[in-house]
Amino acid sequence: MSSSSGKKYDFSGKVALVTGSSSGIGAAIAVQFAQYGAKLTITGRDGAALESVAKKIEIESGHQPLQIVGDLLDQSLPAKLINETVSKFGRLDFLVNNAGGSTAHRELNDEKLMEAFDKVFALNVRAVLQLSQLAAIHLEKSKGNIINISSIVSMKPYGHVYSSSKAALDMITKTLAKELGLKGVRVNSINPGPVATGFLRSVGMSATAYTDLADTMINHTLLKFLAQPDEIANLASFLASDDARNMTGSIVVSDTGSLLV
Ligand SMILES: NC(=O)c1ccc[n+]([C@@H]2O[C@H](COP(=O)([O-])OP(=O)(O)OC[C@H]3O[C@@H](n4cnc5c(N)ncnc54)[C@H](OP(=O)(O)O)[C@@H]3O)[C@@H](O)[C@H]2O)c1
Repeated sequence: MSSSSGKKYDFSGKVALVTGSSSGIGAAIAVQFAQYGAKLTITGRDGAALESVAKKIEIESGHQPLQIVGDLLDQSLPAKLINETVSKFGRLDFLVNNAGGSTAHRELNDEKLMEAFDKVFALNVRAVLQLSQLAAIHLEKSKGNIINISSIVSMKPYGHVYSSSKAALDMITKTLAKELGLKGVRVNSINPGPVATGFLRSVGMSATAYTDLADTMINHTLLKFLAQPDEIANLASFLASDDARNMTGSIVVSDTGSLLV
């Protein structure tokens, strides 16, 4: 849908909450939604990183986002995010469940496996379901939609913890789509392959190990490059827009051909 301003999508009057928007894919989605006219709530644990994304949004769109610093392992944060967004902006149109984590603890002989499992599932699965539960009433009013940022590891094994959490998330996308579709709310998933972000650094990988892994990850793509966060944001904007009005319960792969390698 082209708007009169010449922008690809017109999100003016819409309100978006993007979790994990202090960096990487979430920051790119937040900035792009703001460029298309949406008002934003951005959130993450790192207040300084959040502030720099907020500045970017202000420069690009003239709009000051609501910033909420918090940890999604804190089960009271989802209610705070939804309530403060609706209280500031009066509505909610787009919930992007992007915050996610992985773990270095992946094998059966790792004594920290179950601890890692609980932590990763709390963030990648529980927080998403809780946020969606709390957002549903507002999305029903706005006929809005939810986008979950999953991964191709939901379809290709990458350790017991991360892969199974993203597989659970994909099923939650479908169960939410089924229940909320009856109320005019769409729910879709984007499943990226390797994207050039600090994701693996954030799970404790050293800079050298990360550079080595980035090279390996490029080799795991068919097209031999890492996707950029903006390329995932392009897909999120499409899914959020009315151009995707016939799409719900879709698991949309954007993986530089990695599933084919
Ligand atoms: N990069 C890839 O190759 C890739 C591939 C497939 C899927 N994904 C998925 O894409 C999503 C975004 O990752 P990214 O690549 O953009 O990595 P990233 O740059 O590390 O971003 C992760 C975001 O999640 C937030 N976050 C992490 N733990 C959190 C917690 N406990 N509470 C609140 N926020 C938390 C981080 O914010 P703070 O650090 O400020 O807390 C950050 O904003 C994740 O769901 C990931 O699984 C990434």
